Amino acid sequence: MATENKVREIEQVVTAHRQLEGAGFVVRRPFPGEIDAVDPFLLIDEMGPVDYAPGEAIGAPDHPHRGFETVTYVLEGEMEHEDSAGHRGSLGPGDVQWMTAGAGIVHSEMPSRRIREQGGRVHGFQVWVNLPRRDKLIRPRYQEYSREKLPQASTGDGKAQVRVIAGEALGARAVIETRTPIVFQDWTLQPGADVTISFRPDLRMLAYVFEGSARIGPNGTRLEEGQLAIFGAGDSVHLSGSGGPGRLLLLGGVPLREPVARYGPFVMNTRAELVQAVEDYQSGKMGEITRSAEIRGEAP
Ligand code: FE2
Repeated sequence: MATENKVREIEQVVTAHRQLEGAGFVVRRPFPGEIDAVDPFLLIDEMGPVDYAPGEAIGAPDHPHRGFETVTYVLEGEMEHEDSAGHRGSLGPGDVQWMTAGAGIVHSEMPSRRIREQGGRVHGFQVWVNLPRRDKLIRPRYQEYSREKLPQASTGDGKAQVRVIAGEALGARAVIETRTPIVFQDWTLQPGADVTISFRPDLRMLAYVFEGSARIGPNGTRLEEGQLAIFGAGDSVHLSGSGGPGRLLLLGGVPLREPVARYGPFVMNTRAELVQAVEDYQSGKMGEITRSAEIRGEAP
């Protein structure tokens, strides 16, 4: 069947449940068993929402990455981060950090000092985007944008709104640059919303509902929060409002179709490259975080 002017149908729905990760971090991870289905995405974690009591908040202290990109998108609360390339900052609601680990970086990702000390709510996303073989060892790069610097758009009736982190929709084009074509968009749909968005047909497209519910695909399949739709082939995506407001992350990427060798925070193409990554990290080639005295005192 020709894919021209074809609205993508839903091929698979994955339902995620909240689970505890690591030292007690609450996540929903809507990931299918077969990674080919979501290539080039390696991980989609919805962190929280979780309400921390004073002294209870935990995060991910110094750890390395190599071979892919980590995208942090904060919905509620504040995250603080630092890395071995000297970047340091904090992210509030609506802010995004797109970190290209490339050849290797060591970073820490923690709830802000205020939340660690006084407690508070944390909610957001961490998505891992794989890098093609040719880019796995590029120089690390870091792109960070606050909420007001991210392009937004809405339909004429205002019932569908989008915040464009990557890709393009409703005439709004991302400011963040990606190594391969990527779509990363936060859509809010009110009842009565009805929008069809064109995307190049070589993208693998996914929609993850994280608040309320939404109708997705040409048949208006209703998805509830915690559900991920994996789309089939086509050149547009149809989203519409459900009985109440809904919010979803729309993701897309051109599948890399390359072998994936994965070990914890390293994602390469072969096992030998993973061994090299571990050696390079252990011998300090990915660097370390240099902290000021003020920060050093509170490092975990
Ligand atoms: Fe990380």
